[in-house]
Amino acid sequence: MVRRHDGKVAIITGASSGIGEACAKAFARSGMSVLMTARRGERLNAIASEIQANGGRAEVLVADAADRALAGRLLDAAESHFGRFDIVLANAGYGFDRPMHLMSEEELRTIFEVNFFASTDLVTHAARRLIAAKRPGHLIMTSSCLSKFSMPSFGAYAATKAAQESVCRAMRFELAPHGIEVASVHPVTTSSEFFSTSAARSGTRSAPLTDHAPKWIIQSPDRVARAILRCIERPRSEVWTSRIVQGASALFTLCPWILDAVLRREAATRCSRTTAATRE
Ligand SMILES: NC(=O)c1ccc[n+]([C@@H]2O[C@H](COP(=O)([O-])OP(=O)(O)OC[C@H]3O[C@@H](n4cnc5c(N)ncnc54)[C@H](OP(=O)(O)O)[C@@H]3O)[C@@H](O)[C@H]2O)c1
Repeated sequence: MVRRHDGKVAIITGASSGIGEACAKAFARSGMSVLMTARRGERLNAIASEIQANGGRAEVLVADAADRALAGRLLDAAESHFGRFDIVLANAGYGFDRPMHLMSEEELRTIFEVNFFASTDLVTHAARRLIAAKRPGHLIMTSSCLSKFSMPSFGAYAATKAAQESVCRAMRFELAPHGIEVASVHPVTTSSEFFSTSAARSGTRSAPLTDHAPKWIIQSPDRVARAILRCIERPRSEVWTSRIVQGASALFTLCPWILDAVLRREAATRCSRTTAATRE
C-alpha cells in the first residue's frame, strides 16, 4: 500500500526522464505536489499532464541546471505555486565516458557544474530557507554507487558523485538540529536514458553498459523511486538499491587491491569493446 504524503511539496530536478520522472510520478501518487524541472519542456509538460489527469498536482519550470539563478527560481516557484516546499530531490545529472587525459578542461568543469554545483547550490539554498522559516524538510541528492569506487573512463563522473556524497554526509549532521534530513542516493545501473546520453555527449562508440551488464544488476527507475520514497518515510543517510553492490563497495574500501583487479579487468574489457565497435 502506498503511504500518503498529502500536503507535502517536492521539487525534483532532472524530472524529464529516468529516475526523476519515476520519482515525480511516485511522489504525486503518494499525494505530494511536485515541481519538476529539466531542459526538455515538452517531456516535462507531458509528465505533468499525466500526473494531473490522475488527480495529482504538478508544475513545470524549464531550465538548464547550469543556470546559476536556478536554485532561487525553483524555490520561489514552489512557494508561489504550492505555498511551500518540503522535499528537494537534486537529481539532474549526466555521465561522461572518456579517460581523464582526453577530457578538456571545459568538459570537466561542465560536468561538475551540472552534477555537483547545481545540486549543492539547490540544497544549500533550500536549507537556508527552511531554517529561516523554522520548518523541517528533506534534502536528497541522486549520487551513484560510483561515489564509492571510480571506474576507467568514468573518473570525472565518479568524482562529481563522490563530491555530492561528501556534501550530503556533512550537511546531514549540520542540519539535524534544524529538523532537516539529508540523504544521498546510490543507484546501480538503471535503465534510463543515462547511457545513451553519456555515449552521445562523449562520442563513445562502444555499446551502452545496459546492453552487456549482467541482468541482475540492471534496475528500473521505478525501483529507485520506491527506495527514495521509503527514505522520505524512514530517513537514512544513504539510499542503496542493491545490497550486493553496497557490500562490494565496502569490500573495495577495505581491500583496494580487489578493486584494482576488478578495474584492471574492466579497463581491458572496455578496450576490446571499443575496438570491436570501431571496426563495425
Ligand atoms: N542510470 C544509471 O545507471 C544511474 C546510476 C547511478 C546514478 N545515476 C544518477 O541518476 C540521476 C538521474 O539519471 P537517470 O538515470 O534518470 O538518467 P536520464 O534519464 O538521462 O535523466 C537525467 C535527467 O537529468 C536532466 N539533465 C541532464 N543535464 C541537465 C542540465 N544541464 N540541465 C537540466 N537538467 C539536466 C535530464 O533532463 P533534460 O535532458 O531534459 O535537461 C534528465 O531529466 C543522475 O544524476 C545520474 O548521475 C544514474
